Amino acid sequence: MADLVNLTIDGVPVSVPKGTLVVDAAKKIGNDIPVFCYHPKLKPVGMCRMCLVDIGTPKIDPATKQPVRDEQGNVVIVFMPKLTTACTTPVSEGMVVRTATEQVRAAREDILEFLLTSHPLDCPICDKGGECPLQNLTLGFGPGVSRFDYDAKFHNEKHVPLGDLIYLDRERCIQCARCIRFQDEIADDHVLQFHDRGRGMEIITFSDPPFDSYFGGNTTDICPVGALTTADFRFKARPWELDSAQSLCTHCPVGCNITLNTRLETKTGGYEIKRVMPRQNEQVNEIWICDKGRYVHHFTRAEDRLRQPMIRRDGRLVEATWEQALQLVSDRLKAAGSHVAAVVGDRIANEDAYLVAKLMRALGGAIGMSPSVPAHYADVVRAFGVGAQTDFARLGKGDVILVVNGDVEEQAPVWFLRLRQAVVDRGAALVMAHARSTKMHRYARAIYRYEPGYAAQWVVTQSEELIAKDLKDARNLLIVFGDESLDGPGARALAQSLANLLIATGHAGKADSGLLALYPHANTQGVFDMTLGTGHMDASRDGVNGKVEANSQFEAAWLIGVGDASDAPPAKFTVVQELFMTELAKRADVVLPALSFAEREGTFTSGDRRVQRFYRALPPLGEARPDWWVAQEIAKRLGHNWGFQGPMHIFADIARNIPHYRELSYEFISASGPQWPPMGRSDLYYGGTVYDNTGGLGARYAGDAERDPSSVHPYDVAVPEPTIAGLERGPRPLYRDGELIRRSAVLASHIVPVQEIA
Ligand code: SF4
Ligand code: SF4
Ligand code: FES
Repeated sequence: MADLVNLTIDGVPVSVPKGTLVVDAAKKIGNDIPVFCYHPKLKPVGMCRMCLVDIGTPKIDPATKQPVRDEQGNVVIVFMPKLTTACTTPVSEGMVVRTATEQVRAAREDILEFLLTSHPLDCPICDKGGECPLQNLTLGFGPGVSRFDYDAKFHNEKHVPLGDLIYLDRERCIQCARCIRFQDEIADDHVLQFHDRGRGMEIITFSDPPFDSYFGGNTTDICPVGALTTADFRFKARPWELDSAQSLCTHCPVGCNITLNTRLETKTGGYEIKRVMPRQNEQVNEIWICDKGRYVHHFTRAEDRLRQPMIRRDGRLVEATWEQALQLVSDRLKAAGSHVAAVVGDRIANEDAYLVAKLMRALGGAIGMSPSVPAHYADVVRAFGVGAQTDFARLGKGDVILVVNGDVEEQAPVWFLRLRQAVVDRGAALVMAHARSTKMHRYARAIYRYEPGYAAQWVVTQSEELIAKDLKDARNLLIVFGDESLDGPGARALAQSLANLLIATGHAGKADSGLLALYPHANTQGVFDMTLGTGHMDASRDGVNGKVEANSQFEAAWLIGVGDASDAPPAKFTVVQELFMTELAKRADVVLPALSFAEREGTFTSGDRRVQRFYRALPPLGEARPDWWVAQEIAKRLGHNWGFQGPMHIFADIARNIPHYRELSYEFISASGPQWPPMGRSDLYYGGTVYDNTGGLGARYAGDAERDPSSVHPYDVAVPEPTIAGLERGPRPLYRDGELIRRSAVLASHIVPVQEIA
């Protein structure tokens, strides 16, 4: 406790760590000092003066260096001659802060009166209206009347596009620089700046293309006025019309916590998502999301969503009832006996994958994963993944982050933000090994190169030198890797050789150390854990881990959320469970409409093995049903009456049967508690329009190396030569074309066609 500093704020004693700013110390005891430019995730700049307070410190006797006391024995406090900014002043021992004096009140009135001289006061049509810090603080602390001549206001052109995703209303900007500082300090995309001086000062973008960043949407959350709005949400709804549901992003392995804001539309008579907002989870995404997570939601209410089961009659797919479709599927699966295969995509929930695997086990069928490459190494990640108590916010000086064959910003954008801060702000050493350059290379202490496809060869041949040089004194060793240009066996060899590196350096199974895989989607690890990763399941036909090989011939194939036709095994009868009429669905014998993540609940296991819940935001669309329900209905018709009432009951079965999930339950992963900094409550001015987390912070399960160190040993790595199939699996840009992103018009110009990916 030696580092705690004691002070009083408005007579209330408080003890906070050395270095804490007065504004944050006050926040800790519920004293809300109003701010505009200050943001707890950004460096303080003291620009707006809204946080002025009266600060005194003990008078010190120069001779004794002790506080001077008055006749009553009280420490004499000397107040600063003028008010001081609470956002730039660190606490000191014995400090006395007064936030409610007449002088402070008058200063706040003056600042607000001044800020409003250039403000258009168009709250009734402003997107920020209803959740606007300027509006709220003006009502709380403003003067009530202005001495300013209304006609002398500046009138600027409104709605200036700063790029195609963000619009600027220059009249509303209060020049707090939060947006510029976010782009500079957090995203490291230096795309915004102030231009001009005085009342003419305005935000401009100088990148080409304009506002070129994957993280721009976050500036609209932390902008304390309606100056920045997204092309997606502006003029679409008022905040008080919106309902909120806590959810998870599905587009990459980070597992960002999000809130889906929905509204009942009079035009369509149905609910739809109006915007996607960050939900605070300091263990996962803090308060940030990337623009893919923010804008790809439109697929949930796309016109061409499947709404009705379809069965093939006379060569054509025609609408059918669920009863007809389920009976047909059940009959064909029954006739197929054990010659049946299920392939599951890695965006479906744990509960779905678990029931599909349970049914396949009951039938003696095979199971596979799409995309199939991660299935080759997910067991290595489960064994040697980051320690359960890993906290990215702790990584810093003395720690080494080794990135091999992965593009962190493109494949896991929010991990990029967090790992970059560990390196740039807290001094962790970054070692990059890749066949090409990535944005992460900017911060590297050492850079290694190899030919595409030779990642595993590089690790195996360089291990000793790396240890002797870059990894020698690493306190913690975090290894991030991707499977770019590798086929399954190549990716497996890479994961195994990296696991061996962890063992050799003594970092296996430890907190803040371990493997972090750049999986393609939100639930790659979870789907593996539920299917191929269940040791007691004998689904293996051929290939590694029972992967369903494309050349296997089955009587019946059941494809759930697979998307890519190349992952489908040839079969005499094919059932496709999907959101859209994909190329694969067009060739199917039965097409079953699935619910999207927004229309149901369940859990995902993120790339760092955090199991998290998502909740229903929208009513079901048409006749679509959740995948777990379909699996249970088919099972029932085949004589297996499981009787699960919903995902919560299925998860209880998962915890009973899958050892790694044994300590987990819906109750446990739904727990949340106070987080610092506090976000998403009524004090919007402090953190922005980020949502509080009441849906659960999730929990990471322990990997094998941590759970039972005696169960893991170095791998005998067989490194294969690169293959054409592997080399064709090139980079995976964030906006890579796909069924979901294609339905977000706002991102249309950003989509990278698959054939253009080198
Ligand atoms: S646009 Fe918003 S965040 Fe940026 S300087 Fe203006 S008020 Fe601040
Ligand atoms: S970083 Fe990943 S999980 Fe987070 S919002 Fe972006 S795509 Fe979604
Ligand atoms: S000067 Fe302190 S919040 Fe702006």
